[in-house]
Amino acid sequence: MLAGDPRERLAAAAVRGVVEVGPGLRLVTDPRATARLLACSAARTLRVERGVAETSWGPDGLATWMAVRAALRPWLGGVGGQAGEFAERVRRVVAGWPARGVIDPMRESVRVVGEVGAGFVLGEPSPSLVGLVERELTVAARPRLLRGGLRAAQRATYAAIRGHRDATPLSDFDEHTRALAVRTLLLAGHHVPAAALAWTLHELARHPEAQREIRADPRFAAAVVREALRLHPPVWRLERRLDAPVDGFPEGTVLLFSPYVNQRDHRVFPDPHGFRPGRWRRDPRPPPGAYFPFALGPRGCPGARLALTLLSVTLSVVLDTHELVPHREPRVTQGVLHHPRGARIGLRPVGDLARGRSTG
Ligand code: HEM
Repeated sequence: MLAGDPRERLAAAAVRGVVEVGPGLRLVTDPRATARLLACSAARTLRVERGVAETSWGPDGLATWMAVRAALRPWLGGVGGQAGEFAERVRRVVAGWPARGVIDPMRESVRVVGEVGAGFVLGEPSPSLVGLVERELTVAARPRLLRGGLRAAQRATYAAIRGHRDATPLSDFDEHTRALAVRTLLLAGHHVPAAALAWTLHELARHPEAQREIRADPRFAAAVVREALRLHPPVWRLERRLDAPVDGFPEGTVLLFSPYVNQRDHRVFPDPHGFRPGRWRRDPRPPPGAYFPFALGPRGCPGARLALTLLSVTLSVVLDTHELVPHREPRVTQGVLHHPRGARIGLRPVGDLARGRSTG
């Protein structure tokens, strides 16, 4: 637990039973209430349209996006069949790592996700397009002063996507909608899954026994990923505005949910702050509002299956050739993305640690 961590402040408020955590902002932590409210049709995602005209979904945007989501579902859900292809792409990135050295897990995870995740959406990796996505996200995270820069970055990404082929099953939609959909997938599927992968590598480095278990049984990678997402959900806060009264909350109430807070509830997860992937071994299903790194309900993450496949495959590929060891702990993040800022991981050739032990 780190001083000044906004997630810990929220958790402490929840323990004290505080529900009003900001002007008009109500924190919901009870798992049942979380599941009910987050998934109800009156709970609207707050989206601030900061885009240029080209990248706006327009007045019927929500209906169009929901139709796109429905069309994407079978394709994004069937991603497991691509595990072999994913492994090949991860291997290409990991081949650039030194056998012995130090890496920035976030930086390397961004590279893996750009190659594999964006590669899946586009049908082939496209470093130039991923570079534009990266640039747009970086500019968007900066203060308002740079609005002009953001508009230029948005235009550049949109134009590049329109001129690019993609692998989505959206041929029934017009070209503009299709480009917007691909853009949404590329932006939402970049830093967030990279942060999840970076946290997972960070935890693995601190837990050599989990590395050994994955080498012995690659299926254990899924348990490691679920546990890393429990402790470190990259999207650690979710807000929804109610557009109708629900459960005694009046219309217009803004509700705050936190996977970080709920997922460290000792009543559901014994030793809540400990990294214990074994708790997922028998595939237990916690109550829905107790574990929701991908959110819940109609606006939950459509890329969850893709992300879980990508992460599990990456762990197996990395551990084929490398041992991970702790090097530098992360610093606290204050922003919306929870990632292991400033962390470093040491690399050793596989078998190195065991050899070191046997020779004393
Ligand atoms: C471990 C990795 C990931 C995590 C933890 C994650 C988590 C989330 C969460 C919590 C939301 C809801 C955000 C909100 O409503 O405020 C979300 C939305 C979304 N995610 Fe993911 N995500 C991951 C990976 C991906 C990937 C790989 C893709 C794309 C290929 C993706 C695409 C999206 C999209 C398009 C939305 C917006 C859905 C909507 O508003 O209807 N995500 N994600």
